[in-house]
Amino acid sequence: MNNFSSTVLKDISQSSIVKTQIMSNVLFEKWRQFIYENCGIFYQDNKKYLLESRLLKRINYLGLGSFDNYLEYILDNVKGLNEKKYLYEAITINETYFFRNQPQLDALIKTIIPEILEKQNRNNKTKIQIWSAASSSGEEAYSVAISIIDLIMPRYPNLEFEIVGTDLNYAVVETAKKGIYREYAIRTTPAYYLKKYFTVDGNNYIVNPEVKKHVSFKLLNLYDNTGMRTMSNFDVIYCANVLIYFDMNSKIKVVNQLYNSLNKGGYLFIGYSETLHNISKAFKILSFPKSIGYKKE
Ligand SMILES: C[S@@+](CC[C@H](N)C(=O)[O-])C[C@H]1O[C@@H](n2cnc3c(N)ncnc32)[C@H](O)[C@@H]1O
Repeated sequence: MNNFSSTVLKDISQSSIVKTQIMSNVLFEKWRQFIYENCGIFYQDNKKYLLESRLLKRINYLGLGSFDNYLEYILDNVKGLNEKKYLYEAITINETYFFRNQPQLDALIKTIIPEILEKQNRNNKTKIQIWSAASSSGEEAYSVAISIIDLIMPRYPNLEFEIVGTDLNYAVVETAKKGIYREYAIRTTPAYYLKKYFTVDGNNYIVNPEVKKHVSFKLLNLYDNTGMRTMSNFDVIYCANVLIYFDMNSKIKVVNQLYNSLNKGGYLFIGYSETLHNISKAFKILSFPKSIGYKKE
């Protein structure tokens, strides 16, 4: 056990479960730096307690006993590589739900998609590519797909569209792929959409194949330059409610990459409480009823 830590231990069947542990400031700096360098998430000083409780889950699972031991473990070339996946699961906040930002969906349906289609018509292109970056368990990507199927497809029956959702957290990506949700996730979904695009099985709401066929999910770290360079030619990117976890430098880095991933004339949406002010001057700001968007000119 390290000198800086004060630990309360409880003996359960011979194994030591660490119930609470205060991380020294020195160790907090090391952990915060490691997380920041690997995924851009920056733990502010006032979130130290949160990091402690999240890391303790992994420390207990692995039986490592302390934050120092866990740091040593994650820095190990072999064990650490595999463990990063579980670390990311422990430290990310994955709150999301269907139809979380209806004003943005309205802007997409009423203005942006018609604009993209008009431009594509001129260029003989017929496919729209959308990226839900930091998609968590997939609700955002499926909400976009449902809106397009219900409100755009009747007018443009030949329209092809594809939505890819990506996230750093392996567990939420697997949930997204399954497309099976509980009541909490669909709490703001219009009843008409629930009836038409979901199959109810007990407490489960299962996204219908008609929607799923347009949506795919994969693991991607927004802070990984190599992975980010594989994401290109998007007409619309959603990157909502993730920049809030980054510091200014990581916001700038990620937004620059998103800019590169967009087609010329492509659109970016971020979260209600987020802004590109002081982060990027490359986009034109667009004002829609109750929401704003950004356009790559
Ligand atoms: C609060 S959720 C937002 C989900 C959805 N975009 C929405 O607005 O409802 C934030 C997501 O960002 C993901 N995330 C955090 N850092 C990331 C990174 N460096 N790369 C990819 N995803 C990341 C988390 O795993 C989490 O699922």
